[in-house]
Amino acid sequence: MKSVVIQEPEKLVIEERPIPQPLPGEVRLRVESAGICGSDVHIYRGHNPFAKYPRVIGHEFFGRIDAVGEGVESSRIGERVVGDPVVSCGHCYPCSVGKPNVCTSLQVIGVHRDGGFSEYITLPARNAHVVPDSIADREATMIEPFTIAANICSQMNPGPLDVALVYGAGPMGLTTIQALRGVYGVKEIIVADRLDERLAMAKESGADRIINNTDIDLASELSKLGIRPTLIVDAACHVSILPEAIGLASPAARIGIMGFSSEPCMISQQGITSKELTIYSSRLNSNRFPMVIDWMVKGKIAPEKLITHQFDYTHVINAMEIFEKDPKTCCKVLLKF
Ligand code: NAI
Ligand code: MN
Ligand code: ZN
Repeated sequence: MKSVVIQEPEKLVIEERPIPQPLPGEVRLRVESAGICGSDVHIYRGHNPFAKYPRVIGHEFFGRIDAVGEGVESSRIGERVVGDPVVSCGHCYPCSVGKPNVCTSLQVIGVHRDGGFSEYITLPARNAHVVPDSIADREATMIEPFTIAANICSQMNPGPLDVALVYGAGPMGLTTIQALRGVYGVKEIIVADRLDERLAMAKESGADRIINNTDIDLASELSKLGIRPTLIVDAACHVSILPEAIGLASPAARIGIMGFSSEPCMISQQGITSKELTIYSSRLNSNRFPMVIDWMVKGKIAPEKLITHQFDYTHVINAMEIFEKDPKTCCKVLLKF
């Protein structure tokens, strides 16, 4: 089989590898489609602290089960499934409290173990979620990115009284905007980004008001407009954002962060406590695949709006470069296997 392998930072090759056999409790997928994410590029460029090389990348993948390991019903063969990249132990403290995404022995498919940019992949059977026929292959490949939004929204519990501010209109911001609009029905959604093209996509995905904050102070702009966000999601993940968000938030607001920067930022106790703000963080997803599949079946989100490109996997280097260098015209890039 062919696999997309990062042999070492900056060295991507399409390698011939033996087709893996499913271990007990695992299934094997014939991968049909996969999505490129920022973290795949980070592994390629050597900027992911968790990655070990060589590594088959890809954690957003869809395919069909073509073999099962011992202990898995053979009736699962032929199922159309999407893979949850979070492989957890099931018994540590975080697993016991429903947060397998931060399991003490967390293995992320495509990061800690080989991923979905490959003709075949094996994974635990419980990580392979059945996709109803009403969800097309391309949409099914988008389930994982939406689980990130589902995870942060499930924690923050948005509602009809919320005035939401989303920083960043990349794939993460856009999935969040669609969820806030189509699933949670918040009162108003304001989106800030540095790129007008991305802001136009935000509007398409349900933003009421878009603000290009390249040259303006967002806090004073919002205050001029009389807007005090009650729910803020940082899907741009620049270190300057949390301090700014604390300043412009309404009293009793919730702030959600998803960034992984190790750079410190300056925040004060007073800024948080005087308004009794709640700050959530969210990593990957904790069993949110069924939730997102349900959103898609009910037509509450529109994943096609995020897909701007699709390539055959043999053009993966070109696909990764476009994804990396062209955020104005490029959002989600899919690979066909
Ligand atoms: P992206 O780079 O495509 O999108 C980020 C957007 O934010 C861009 O459109 C950019 O113009 C905008 N931006 C940058 N600085 C800004 C600022 N100061 N104010 C407003 N907008 C600004 O990235 P993508 O894929 O949407 O991911 C966003 C972030 O989420 C990344 O940092 C990534 O590491 C993180 N992430 C976290 C996950 C988690 O589970 N916690 C999962 C996936 C991504
Ligand atoms: Mn991803
Ligand atoms: Zn665990």
